[in-house]
Amino acid sequence: MVNMGKKGREIVEVDLKSLLELLQKAYADEWIAYYAYKWAADVANGLNSPLVAQLADKTADEEEEHADELAERILELGGDLPYGIEKLYDLANCKTVNYPKDMSDLKGILEALVEAEGCAIDVYNNIVKFLGPCYNKDIKTFHLIEHILAEEVKHEEAFENLL
Ligand SMILES: [Fe+2]
Ligand SMILES: [Fe+2]
Repeated sequence: MVNMGKKGREIVEVDLKSLLELLQKAYADEWIAYYAYKWAADVANGLNSPLVAQLADKTADEEEEHADELAERILELGGDLPYGIEKLYDLANCKTVNYPKDMSDLKGILEALVEAEGCAIDVYNNIVKFLGPCYNKDIKTFHLIEHILAEEVKHEEAFENLL
């Protein structure tokens, strides 16, 4: 296990059980986003829209990075890493991306991606609020979530700009 050292653990003064639940749920969200955005990239490629395809692909890779970063912190804090597609679906706050029925509706796909980023923004904003009043009680998690939140805000903007 990657568990932190003594002092690293000592300085974490938050309700660990609640924090770990929030981080595990966010981890599930990131994997669902990764899959959904890769799907969007494939479809956009098929529709000869390389710009949308590239953005969806790049964003998917950043979501996967978020999953890695969350995993590292969950393990450091002594939590379990959720495993299994059903488990991830069960845990996720943002369980699906609401793509249009018509796969050739690129605008509808982009709108769904904007909405998905909005859901992610809410997830991290809520974690910031959970840590917020006492952010110095787990400074490392606070900065990680702040960093991810900033990227989700950029993602939303990038998809919105393609509309
Ligand atoms: Fe993300
Ligand atoms: Fe995102």
